[in-house]
Amino acid sequence: MRRSLVLGNWKQNTTKSTALELLTDLSKELNDNPTKTELGVIPPALVVQMAVEQCQNSAFEVGVQNVSSTNAGAFTGEVGADMVASMGAKYALVGHSERREYFKESADDLANKIVRCLEHDLLPVYCIGEQLEVRQSGDYLAFIKNQLEEVFSQLQPEQITNLVIAYEPVWAIGTGETASAEQAQEVHAMIRQLVHAKIGTDNITILYGGSCKPSNAKELFSQPDIDGGLIGGASLNAKDFVAIANSF
Ligand code: 13P
Repeated sequence: MRRSLVLGNWKQNTTKSTALELLTDLSKELNDNPTKTELGVIPPALVVQMAVEQCQNSAFEVGVQNVSSTNAGAFTGEVGADMVASMGAKYALVGHSERREYFKESADDLANKIVRCLEHDLLPVYCIGEQLEVRQSGDYLAFIKNQLEEVFSQLQPEQITNLVIAYEPVWAIGTGETASAEQAQEVHAMIRQLVHAKIGTDNITILYGGSCKPSNAKELFSQPDIDGGLIGGASLNAKDFVAIANSF
């Protein structure tokens, strides 16, 4: 389903006390500046329970940054989609570029993670995006197409319909260098066309991520194929995060 959505990926940041502080700030900020946008925080998994408790009285939802590709079993250290769903979370990031790069997640892993999420009513947010060398080579559209195809080829059309896709150019993540609205729109339009060609509808939500902040969110979100943002650094500040959510 296509709608406006802003998600805040906290990455490996916050402890119990600073997470509580940030969640409390976020609730206060949303009270003062309510938003019509669907909003979600994606904290470290250990904070999910606290975040779900906090969001009972506030206008945000909660997600996780990763789930296991397997069902329950002897997989030490893994966190399953069933566990996450049972805590009351709603979203799960799948294939964030940091996980692809540092944890060598393969397309098969990612397709399995998406299936696990959907089995447990978690909304998978499939992350894609090219590195700087790929952008500079000019082959970025083919690269992104491949990131979509290698997972779509393992999914049923109804599973693809239930994805959120996040385009996050790696060169824009945490660098302060945002993709221009035109650069982002070009890729988002291609993603939407590809999804349409694959499943006959383009009624899906496509987010932009990469140095998105209050000063550039409005221009990005005004593009015809950009439905919102996956926010890293700026989501660690409640005021900035809510300002971004109010940038439609
Ligand atoms: P920044 O907003 O810090 O660039 O991070 C983007 C991101 O990786 C969100 O998943």
